[in-house]
Amino acid sequence: MHENEKTLLAVLSGKSVSNRPVWLMRQAGRYLPEYRELRAQADSFLKLCLKPEKAAEATLQPVKRFSLDAAILFADILLVPYALGQGLDFKEGEGPILGPIEGLDWREEKIAPVFETIRLVKKEMPKEATLIGFAGAPWTVFCYMIEKKGKNGFPKALQALKEPEAEGFFEKLIEATILYLNKQIEAGAEVVQLFESHAGLVIDEALFKKAIVEPTQRIIQGVRQKNPKTPIIGFPRGASLQRLKMFSEETGVDALGIDQDKKPEETRRSLGKEIVLQGNLDPALLVKGGQVMKEAAKKIMEGFGEKHIFNLGHGVLPETPPEHVAELVNFIHAYGTKK
Ligand code: CP3
Repeated sequence: MHENEKTLLAVLSGKSVSNRPVWLMRQAGRYLPEYRELRAQADSFLKLCLKPEKAAEATLQPVKRFSLDAAILFADILLVPYALGQGLDFKEGEGPILGPIEGLDWREEKIAPVFETIRLVKKEMPKEATLIGFAGAPWTVFCYMIEKKGKNGFPKALQALKEPEAEGFFEKLIEATILYLNKQIEAGAEVVQLFESHAGLVIDEALFKKAIVEPTQRIIQGVRQKNPKTPIIGFPRGASLQRLKMFSEETGVDALGIDQDKKPEETRRSLGKEIVLQGNLDPALLVKGGQVMKEAAKKIMEGFGEKHIFNLGHGVLPETPPEHVAELVNFIHAYGTKK
């Protein structure tokens, strides 16, 4: 173990660490009173994302309160459609609402505040914590862009995927995502994660390759060309073990996110000893806390073994008591990397 190396980066570069890294998807959000306060001061969620001082504060809130090993940039995957000219609004209780698609021209100035957020965060990060940047993967972003909302499934997007126009659309998204992630890295993101939250919706094998595996492969190539040392975590949520294996081998991701429906030991066995896995506590168990949560966390650590970044299988739920997050993080660190 290199004394000064951050544990998350050490695990991602294949080293053994004595302290297992832990962070949580949606660790900045409504379960934190300090976030609710920040959110109440902002006119809208979108404005909060695009105000660097405020977004930096939201990014840092969880690492200030808990001894987490990473902060994730406070932004949203839907800022990419926004920068491509699509209207975007987040309505309380309804999720995102998107406007009509016009042109799809990448206007960097619309999303530039995000890079400023990264620079501000980097000045104040606790020295042990790693800053994670992110983007939505093209299929997941396409789902919202076509459907224009995000609550009740994506039937139109699944239909549109089979049409010839989808190809040009995906090209634009791939290019924009490469640009966006490279800029995040140049601003100071140390790791990037690609959220493919709706991977489970694509049943057909050939479509899975075309809409999920190939775009991810190309994004990884585009990022590595400019930033070969930055680790990339891919999270095709809802994909089967067999699909995860294919995704991992064909895209060459540095780590794979695992959702809470997978059994840790079986997952490790089918994906092999080498790949770093991230996940996969059920967010509902973090709401419960206590012994059931710790038993499940222990099983996850035993099942995945050393090459593991502790996380949830999906985002922190708004009803989560913050004390349970502290309890979980302390438990993971006390357990370490024992097998
Ligand atoms: O702490 C973090 O994880 C960092 C920031 C972050 C947000 N969204 C903030 C957010 C990240 C990494 C995301 C990713 C994201 N956004 C995904 C992929 C992960 C997943 O959840 O599957 C998706 C699909 C979105 C799109 C999105 N954004 C939806 C569907 C919603 C509405 C649902 C909800 O929880 O309200 C959002 C809004 C959103 N993004 C909030 C936050 C903190 C809540 C908005 C608010 O505070 O008013």
